[in-house]
Amino acid sequence: MTRHLSAVHRCLGIGLLGMMIGPAFLQAQAQTVSTTSSSAMPPGIERSSFGQLPDGREVDCYRITNDNGIEMRVINYGGIIVSLKTPDRAGRMDDIVLGFDSIGDYLSDTYRQANPYFGALIGRYGNRIANGRFTLDGETYHLPTNDGPNTLHGGDVGFNQRLWHAEPFSSAEGRGLVLTYTSADGEQGFPGRLSTRVRYTLTNDDELAIDYRARTTRATPVNLTQHSYFNLKGEGSPSILDHQLMINASAYTPVDETLIPTGEIADVSGTPFDFREPTAIGARLGQKNTQLAYAKGYDHNFVLSKNPGQDDLPTLAARVLEPRSGRVLEVATTEPGLQFYSGNFLDGSLTGKSGRPYTHRSGLALETQHFPDSPNQPNFPSTILRPDETYHSQTIYRFSTTASENQLATD
Ligand code: GLA
Repeated sequence: MTRHLSAVHRCLGIGLLGMMIGPAFLQAQAQTVSTTSSSAMPPGIERSSFGQLPDGREVDCYRITNDNGIEMRVINYGGIIVSLKTPDRAGRMDDIVLGFDSIGDYLSDTYRQANPYFGALIGRYGNRIANGRFTLDGETYHLPTNDGPNTLHGGDVGFNQRLWHAEPFSSAEGRGLVLTYTSADGEQGFPGRLSTRVRYTLTNDDELAIDYRARTTRATPVNLTQHSYFNLKGEGSPSILDHQLMINASAYTPVDETLIPTGEIADVSGTPFDFREPTAIGARLGQKNTQLAYAKGYDHNFVLSKNPGQDDLPTLAARVLEPRSGRVLEVATTEPGLQFYSGNFLDGSLTGKSGRPYTHRSGLALETQHFPDSPNQPNFPSTILRPDETYHSQTIYRFSTTASENQLATD
């Protein structure tokens, strides 16, 4: 048995054959959902106004609580998770995601310039497409470039800036919201009318299960993800560098200076990208390393280790522990990749819900995804959705606490 597999085994406290995480974790994918008309809220869900868009459209905020008191607030603009309150090891609730309390803060010039995509649904293509173009079935498509020479997170106006239709629901597993958005043929340069449906379920097993589906009228690249920034000490705390991170990946995709993958699938062994054993995020950031220099920290796609024959089931991608609060976040996904971003572009110019600035590396994102620039990289798993197919992807964030500060080290 290899060293990294046994490390994953230990830190999850489950058998290797069960590396898919516990049964409750998986049940979230099989729920039967009954939606409610938007006028009648199911118990445990409240709707309020979050303000208006400049064109007068109303933005709604849904406050969803589970049976254990975990509370999530989601707005229909961008499907943004604006807050998520979970207990620490003593039962004290803190909001562990970066975000704002009013729509104006998500629309401000300062926010647009910083462009951090706090808490939002990302589409049609999460991450970068090189030089804003790709060729599909013999035709070359041109996209807006919004990140140096490249297209990032769907272009100038991605799914994060769209008003989605929201339907709250309650099911045996928990409560949530079904968000739908239809992206027009040609929107941001992409071919095909894409009907997108994202279901957030806050389960009574303290998971946020996200189920993504899409259908298209013409072949198009699709790569949907969620861009929440976590700080397990509570948003507004100054740093995530002491969070302990495990990523279930023995390879990653190195990038050029514009953060486009070179095409290489590189072994993480002996590099600052080896997170197979839980490691403090800041432990190796000071190392002289070209990849860290290009991204000003971690902003890289990890090639997730999968169990043979289980590509369609959510498997463990990452685990984060914040020693002081004892909060633990686990991520499982059906996706082949995970972008770990250490909040390198946060610079204190944005002030969050608690009135504290979001300083450099005060939040981390774990974006489950296909690999960046896949439409231009024939050796990467395909992101092309065709009209006879349904795009389906699942990601589960599980929230828990650990009793001991040293659990990861001593388990
Ligand atoms: C992703 C990208 C980063 C950055 C953030 C938002 O993580 O890979 O480079 O754009 O989104 O700032």
